[in-house]
Amino acid sequence: MTTTKSVVRWAIVGTGGIARRTLGDLRLTENAEVVAVCSRKQETADAFAAETGIGRAYGDFDALLGDDDVDALYIGIPHGKHFEYAQRALRAGKHVLCEKPLTMTADEARELQALARENGVFLMEAMWMKYTPSMRKALELVESGTIGEPRFVQAGLGYPVPADGPQRFWVAELGGGALFDMGVYTIALAHLFLGTPDSVRASGVMRADGVDLYESVILGYPSGAQAQLTTSITFWIPPAGSLGGTGGSISFGEPLFSPATLRVAYGTPPTPPTVENLEFEKEGAGYVPMFRAAGEAILRGELEEPLHPMSVTIEVLEIMERVRDELILQRDAR
Ligand SMILES: NC(=O)c1ccc[n+]([C@@H]2O[C@H](COP(=O)([O-])OP(=O)(O)OC[C@H]3O[C@@H](n4cnc5c(N)ncnc54)[C@H](OP(=O)(O)O)[C@@H]3O)[C@@H](O)[C@H]2O)c1
Repeated sequence: MTTTKSVVRWAIVGTGGIARRTLGDLRLTENAEVVAVCSRKQETADAFAAETGIGRAYGDFDALLGDDDVDALYIGIPHGKHFEYAQRALRAGKHVLCEKPLTMTADEARELQALARENGVFLMEAMWMKYTPSMRKALELVESGTIGEPRFVQAGLGYPVPADGPQRFWVAELGGGALFDMGVYTIALAHLFLGTPDSVRASGVMRADGVDLYESVILGYPSGAQAQLTTSITFWIPPAGSLGGTGGSISFGEPLFSPATLRVAYGTPPTPPTVENLEFEKEGAGYVPMFRAAGEAILRGELEEPLHPMSVTIEVLEIMERVRDELILQRDAR
């Protein structure tokens, strides 16, 4: 489905944490109009719509899919449910921007990509980190050769999620665990700067039900580059990272998914490096650039967004599958 208008009419699916955090940003995005919200319960949808001023409230997903005045869905529900909801939306001819991780397996993501192509609609995982001004600047610095050839990525994300915290962290069917929730960022970051690894090693702890508590991942690349990534839902890991190249380095200030600062250092030893400290403003809560990019791609009639195409989502999921396989082997050997 392509639209001839200059605005994409969005519906938000889910009325939880991320829906509340992103609604203001979707409204700040000039090519977006929020026209509907959908919940599993009519009264929840009604309450959310009344509180936020959204025009139409659906307590039934099929009813939302039947609304011809909705172009695109922003799906903000627990990861384990993304595949089912995205599949139904794509079949109904709706464009889909779905929260991370897009699906639980690479095969599911391939299936969604095929469905989107069959139905001529847009599909994208909401990897907002890549659209932030600081990450765009880091990409520009790498492309201009400021830090030479990228050879090393280090990244961490973690905090002790309370046992009575959001269920998506703790319930296997909802996609529980550190890797799906946080590892998707650190692996996407490594993929952004180093590409596709040829080796994946991991060490960590996974529960019997498949929920992983923490892991350290080492990705190896044909160039000799390495990524060291650590994620956790049981202890703190500073949400920061760095990128090392043959001619310099970039340190990503906190938080990793929307760095407020970059420290860029470059030069040739033994001369001390030139250091630049850069600061970045967020647009809204930080999601505006991603919503804008998704909207622009939809309005251009494209099926994917060039900076975060489905091929990347699929490759990141493949890496996550290999990490999970290693954690399962370690768990079963204990
Ligand atoms: N980009 C970011 O910064 C960011 C931050 C946090 C989370 N996320 C992502 O956003 C997604 C949702 O996270 P969240 O923190 O918003 O989760 P949440 O608050 O636990 O759930 C969001 C909403 O999903 C709906 N829902 C819950 N269980 C469901 C089920 N079994 N089937 C269908 N719908 C269900 C509920 O809405 P109704 O009751 O209205 O149906 C709930 O309020 C996750 O994939 C997460 O990775 C992204």
